[in-house]
Amino acid sequence: MSFRLQPAAPARPNRCQLFGPGSRTALFEKMAASAADVINLDLEDSVAPSDKETARANIIAAISDVDWGNKTLSVRINGLDTPWWYRDVVDLLEQAGERLDQIMIPKVGCAGDIYAVDALVTAIEAAKGRSKRIDFEVIIESAAGIAHVEEIAAASPRMVAMSLGAADFAASMGMQTTGIGGTQENYYMLREGEKHWSDPWHWAQAAIVAACRTHGVLPVDGPFGDFSDDDGFRAQARRSATLGMVGKWAIHPKQIALANEVFTPSEDAVTEAREILAAMEQAKANGEGATVYKGRLVDIASIKQAEVIVRQSEMIAG
Ligand code: COA
Ligand code: MG
Repeated sequence: MSFRLQPAAPARPNRCQLFGPGSRTALFEKMAASAADVINLDLEDSVAPSDKETARANIIAAISDVDWGNKTLSVRINGLDTPWWYRDVVDLLEQAGERLDQIMIPKVGCAGDIYAVDALVTAIEAAKGRSKRIDFEVIIESAAGIAHVEEIAAASPRMVAMSLGAADFAASMGMQTTGIGGTQENYYMLREGEKHWSDPWHWAQAAIVAACRTHGVLPVDGPFGDFSDDDGFRAQARRSATLGMVGKWAIHPKQIALANEVFTPSEDAVTEAREILAAMEQAKANGEGATVYKGRLVDIASIKQAEVIVRQSEMIAG
């Protein structure tokens, strides 16, 4: 470890973030009754410009009126390039009840974007005497966002989570694709005439994970658009989990169980992690820093890897 220790990310389940448009009030109770860990009520791109004000009022009422249980409750505001975002923040902070946990800021491009929202939120919290600090989550979904990802992760003590937004990201990058996440037809390697598909989202995800882990923020995979493709969702989510992400969005209720399945460490994975920890305890008792487990090397680094899985499993169970 460097002299500067890596801060822990918030210890809370964030396996699935379920989205719903603020204009579709009929969905709110269903969202609250779902198995998602995080609820994202949307004011941004799933709400038509003509519905922005109604959606804002709907969400403010629902924050108090609906029983959200122990879920993390977040509202996605409009981007800082729109005429709506300041009113989203002002009305939410002035009028919504203390049940609101988080604001999600979309399309962030630099630390200054977070600073601007932070200044506004901090002033309203003080003016209104709000007792609970509102946390921030952001979406990295532009070329500027990924170029400045580390300063964004470090931009405010309010920062708790960061997601990759594949669709806007692809558009901003000029990528030739209309798919929202997953395999892209033209992104392949050729070997002996056979195509082998690769993952065009990989580098952006890895950059987000590194920025988040450096600054104690939860890295999350964003939407997977084709909600009729369960296997495609699972494959994308498994890659994200392997890279260090803790959860994924659901843009349809079908995707909730899939996300929970992938981002809950399996019984086999937890058993193996505990066996590795036991093997290392034994090694330590013998005065050794490394040993053999199922024919492969395990050493002091393996303890940290195994602890990631055990801690995640215990946090979710608890
Ligand atoms: N949360 C909770 N329940 C939802 C839901 C959601 N986001 N979306 C749909 N449902 C419910 C429907 O009300 C329906 O319930 P019922 O069985 O009681 O009638 C059931 O799930 C099946 O819905 P379905 O008919 O398949 O979907 P739809 O045509 O009503 O809506 C979408 C499809 C994609 C438009 C809708 O899921 C949606 O708006 N998703 C979120 C979009 C969003 O927020 N995007 C921003 C982030 S990318
Ligand atoms: Mg977007």
